[in-house]
Amino acid sequence: MSKYGNYKTTIVHLRYTFYQNILYFMSKQIFYTLLVLFVSANFFSCYYDVEEELYKTNCDADTVGYTKDIAPIIVNYCDVCHNDVDLLGAISLESYNQVKVYVDNGKFLGSVRHDAGYSAMPQGGAKLSACDIQKIEKWIDNGAPNN
Ligand code: HEC
Repeated sequence: MSKYGNYKTTIVHLRYTFYQNILYFMSKQIFYTLLVLFVSANFFSCYYDVEEELYKTNCDADTVGYTKDIAPIIVNYCDVCHNDVDLLGAISLESYNQVKVYVDNGKFLGSVRHDAGYSAMPQGGAKLSACDIQKIEKWIDNGAPNN
């Protein structure tokens, strides 16, 4: 009985060592995999940081706001035609609520991006800068808040 017991204990022990070795081997593999992932993630995040840095200095669309960014674009490029008096195309973009109507029906973005199926705006003028369009897209992505 005790002999059998010892034999069994040895088997269990051997099996334990076997699994321990596997675990050790696997943990080594995992360690190297993680190391490679970590190093490459760092490499790519550096690369990404640099790009974001460049992008930020060129165009800061991250903190876009209606009062700060969107209203001035409209005043500069749209208001001359789309005000409450001239109402070209029967459209006024003087207030947030008036602008919001054309944001919601997709015409605002479609027009400034010169998308197919919309009248290109500003009519007869140059397309808005890539940065201004980016700000408008970001603002609309954020839900076009009156901020
Ligand atoms: C020189 C005058 C003029 C300027 C500047 C102008 N628009 Fe327009 N806009 C018009 C006229 C006229 C129409 C109606 C005829 C048409 O759709 O082309 C119109 C139509 C639109 C429409 C409806 C488009 C559609 O597909 O139904 C939108 C939206 C619009 N304008 C937005 C803008 C925005 C935003 C700006 C500034 C970035 C702007 N417009 C600048 C004259 C102008």
